Amino acid sequence: MEEKVKKVIGDIEQHAVTTAEEAEQFRLKFLSKKGIIPALFEEFKSVDAEQRRKLGKILNELKTAAEAKFTAWNTQAPLQAGKQEGKGVSGPDLTLPPYPFELGSRHPVSIVKRRITEIFEKIGYTVSEGPDIEDDWHNFGALNFPADHPARDMQDTFFISPPGNPHPAHLLRTHTSSVQVRVMEGQKPPIRTISPGRVYRNETISARAHCQFHQVEGLYIDKGVSFADLKQTLYYFVHELFGKKTGIRFRPSYFPFTEPSAEMDISCIICGGDGCNICKHSGWVEILGCGMVHPNVLDNCKIDSLLYTGFAFGTGVERIAMMLYGIKDLRLFYENDIRFLSQFRPAL
Ligand code: DAH
Repeated sequence: MEEKVKKVIGDIEQHAVTTAEEAEQFRLKFLSKKGIIPALFEEFKSVDAEQRRKLGKILNELKTAAEAKFTAWNTQAPLQAGKQEGKGVSGPDLTLPPYPFELGSRHPVSIVKRRITEIFEKIGYTVSEGPDIEDDWHNFGALNFPADHPARDMQDTFFISPPGNPHPAHLLRTHTSSVQVRVMEGQKPPIRTISPGRVYRNETISARAHCQFHQVEGLYIDKGVSFADLKQTLYYFVHELFGKKTGIRFRPSYFPFTEPSAEMDISCIICGGDGCNICKHSGWVEILGCGMVHPNVLDNCKIDSLLYTGFAFGTGVERIAMMLYGIKDLRLFYENDIRFLSQFRPAL
């Protein structure tokens, strides 16, 4: 039997393959269940004790060598998939064109959110975030909405009650103004920050309203900040986002957390101010609410309202995306229709 084993060792040593097919034939011949090596092991069982020790060792070496050879062919040198008549070439064909990568596109809300963020980062604003699930204090109380005040009805709220307890402890934030409270509680002026994020309202879903959408809140607190600073900042923002020719106007308004408060309109960029369905034939579209931070809000957040003033503003991301892209139905943003989504590319 020793002779037999030595012959197999010789065969294996001399064995050379150039294709994957030949390597497989090698495996079948020597290593597979019905191959030569397992057969030798079978025969080995009936060898007498004296020969066993010596033969066992060579047999094991044979098996290891055969396996190592097979592994090396498969992992190191690339073998051709099949035989190529007359050619000794191996490896993949590098001249073949590559498979094209499927490129995704960004969601229009993400594109606009990012663009707004870039515009404010250029003038020194940081980005702050807060939780979607808020408590009453951060969403309403600290923002000068007294308990039971009708101003709370301005925003239809999803309340979250603990099981078995009818009194709501938390809610889904109705605006990102909640983040300005968190920032003021945690930082000292000067503060210059924007807070992009998702907000929720208990509204009937239609082409113009949804139960979820996105806002970007802005906040600037320092000594001597005035309404003129607010206007200049928003002029800059509108001109960067919509172009220098866009008309801007402020209308007096009411928010519990700002005094004085205003809403800002821009000239309709769809019809250029001539009047269309988007601007309801007025030539103007409201894009944000703003005002000087109410002294009560500063005091609620432990910022001295005699020393500091500030402005805040809040704008809807979907509303802006609708203007920029001429989208007429708000629901499209949340239907995940690939035909809609694939039209948007990052560059705006
Ligand atoms: N939070 C307001 C809303 O969701 C928007 C807003 C108005 C934010 C005035 C402000 C502001 O910071 O000053 O309707």
